Amino acid sequence: MAVPLDPHLAVVGSINADLVVRVARLPGPGETVVGGDLARLAGGKGANQAAAAARLGVRTAMVGAVGDDETGSWLVGELSSAGVDVSRVARCARPTGTALITVDDRGENVIVVAPGANGDVNPSNVALEDFDVVLAQLEIPPAVVDEVSRRARALVLNVAPSARVDPITLGRCAVVIANEIEVASLDLASLAHCVVTLGARGAVHYRYGREVARAPALPVEPVDTVGAGDVFCAAYATQYACGVEAREALRFATAAGSLATRAPGARGALPTRTEVEAWLARAS
Ligand code: RIB
Repeated sequence: MAVPLDPHLAVVGSINADLVVRVARLPGPGETVVGGDLARLAGGKGANQAAAAARLGVRTAMVGAVGDDETGSWLVGELSSAGVDVSRVARCARPTGTALITVDDRGENVIVVAPGANGDVNPSNVALEDFDVVLAQLEIPPAVVDEVSRRARALVLNVAPSARVDPITLGRCAVVIANEIEVASLDLASLAHCVVTLGARGAVHYRYGREVARAPALPVEPVDTVGAGDVFCAAYATQYACGVEAREALRFATAAGSLATRAPGARGALPTRTEVEAWLARAS
């Protein structure tokens, strides 16, 4: 891929309101636990990734859908304030997507998503071909992900949340990004480039199933890990779009993901490029 001077990134994905409650420990099946006050925060894997990419200084457009409701207006406003081009976000009849999130004292979380309007994401009238790189996830219909894989110049696909993806779709991706749970549904040996995030243990880059690079996480005390994977994906996609070599892109994305855990909420601690580079300089 020729390296653009000022890359243009599109994120095709979900936009959610996150309803978050903190608890001492996560409940087991059939158990009730009492938590803290409910918080309503801006979220959605797609929107988090778009906001993180814009914060890292890359021109970013969001392709998504929200309901024709107050929550949708609020979320589009949040994205716009984060520097994301929201002109390709549709309003539709279904309610805005919502995620129910529980976070424990160690910063671990469980999430249930009610997709709502995210099920109506439709990029057919968007010129995806005009973007240098498209970043997508799996909180939108599989047929949309497949269409994006056919039309994008280069697709970075975050296979989250865990779901089976057609191997033909996966084969069209420039890079597939998975966590330790999501990677179980992939055939690593068939993927040209697969990046696996390992939480506090960093991340690994595989080329047709063979490890080619590994990066450690930064030694930060996590407050909240919700959205850290999204920041990782955004950071990796921005570096990829800028033509940064794979090992360096992995190091940068791993540092960005670590820094994102320092405050509550999926977007509570989105790092800037300067911050990530300063931490990397200190760590080396
Ligand atoms: O990756 C974190 C995100 O997953 C949350 O913001 C929530 O909306 C769910 O989509």
